[in-house]
Amino acid sequence: MSKAVIVLGAQWGDEGKGKIVDMLTEHSDAVVRFQGGHNAGHTIIVGDNKVVLHLIPSGILHENVECLIGNGVVLSPEALLEEMQMLQEKEIDFEDRLKISSSCPLILPYHVALDQAREKKLGKQAIGTTGRGIGPAYEDKVSRRGLRVTDIFDTQQLSNKIESILDYHNFVLKNYYNSEVFDPNSVLHDLLPMLEKMKPFVCDVSERLQEFKFLDKNILFEGAQGSFLDIDHGTYPFVTSSNTVAGGACVGAGIGPKDIDYVLGVAKAYTTRVGEGPFPTELFDETGKMLSTKGNEFGATTGRPRRCGWLDVVALSKAVRVNGLDAICLTKIDVLDELESIKVCIDYDEDNAMKPKYVEYEGWCESTLNIQEFDQLPEAAQSYIKAIENYLGIPIDIISTGPKRNQNIIRKEVFS
Ligand code: IMP
Repeated sequence: MSKAVIVLGAQWGDEGKGKIVDMLTEHSDAVVRFQGGHNAGHTIIVGDNKVVLHLIPSGILHENVECLIGNGVVLSPEALLEEMQMLQEKEIDFEDRLKISSSCPLILPYHVALDQAREKKLGKQAIGTTGRGIGPAYEDKVSRRGLRVTDIFDTQQLSNKIESILDYHNFVLKNYYNSEVFDPNSVLHDLLPMLEKMKPFVCDVSERLQEFKFLDKNILFEGAQGSFLDIDHGTYPFVTSSNTVAGGACVGAGIGPKDIDYVLGVAKAYTTRVGEGPFPTELFDETGKMLSTKGNEFGATTGRPRRCGWLDVVALSKAVRVNGLDAICLTKIDVLDELESIKVCIDYDEDNAMKPKYVEYEGWCESTLNIQEFDQLPEAAQSYIKAIENYLGIPIDIISTGPKRNQNIIRKEVFS
């Protein structure tokens, strides 16, 4: 029996989804991105090779796997071509395996300028975006003035649309943000050669997925960012501009909810966050520094240091609910190895949600790196994991015990 599986971040992104998706791709026929854009950053280590992908699903590293970019993704032609070139340089063949929805909104240079100008104007209230034009591109989509991939096939219409969009955005850039404006002709001129290279990859992703279902193939939906960066369910306004939760996969790829068989939430054994916004369990002490250093907590996209803190099961329970998670994949347990005691937030102060209430667990003070059987984990690590399962009411099906593809404890095969 084939399966359709969603893998998504259950925290604020950077949970280590890239590695898990890469691992599950071995059993998939198609991997699909359904939201976000090149704000995401998936770092995958294959052998001694490190590959960072922002837009193209990491499934592209596996021969015979088709990679689809669904309509919910905002697509920067420039970023797409850069990644294609990187893959070509690494001699990874993708020509017949990459598909782009004709309904993806395009990210163009003025979106990047608007994103950055807005952040600058917000000053101390800035969101801390990746500055890649994600928010403004989604705004254009929702306001129904944006360009979509389908527009690239009619140059005259494309030219007219760029002119009318810039009539609007240039006004805002010049008069509200006091920024440089864009010349429609030069935007079009720079764009045209890129579009030619994109055209062969365009298809109806929703129809293609139906074909996969019909042929009884396994499909993997790869979430970007994390549940608390969701525009509706996250820590608004410190969120990204798309629906990162499981429902977003249906909308952003063109499939029905009944076609999804299993939803896996990826969570770190602690918590990190990039950018601004509330983070109740954030640590500002030596432990926070240790998590940052040992966990190598720097953004794959912007290189910014990630804020680090204890695991928050109150937040994680919300992720279980809003995504309908079937199970958790717990990553980076080995980062906690040297701690004598480990805290887990199980509640917040009645009058102050930024004041967590903790339960303290005994640390294990030995290495869990590379362990592949649950009962080989130190007892204290087993207790920590079981306690999290108890709080969440769902199983932890996979535990990642190192950065490499095969460093995992698999308690249940996802594509069984
Ligand atoms: P934007 O998606 O660039 O608009 O940024 C909005 C918020 O989402 C900021 O706090 C970013 O740091 C955060 N963000 C966007 N993409 C990622 C990601 O892939 N991992 C973690 N945080 C992200």
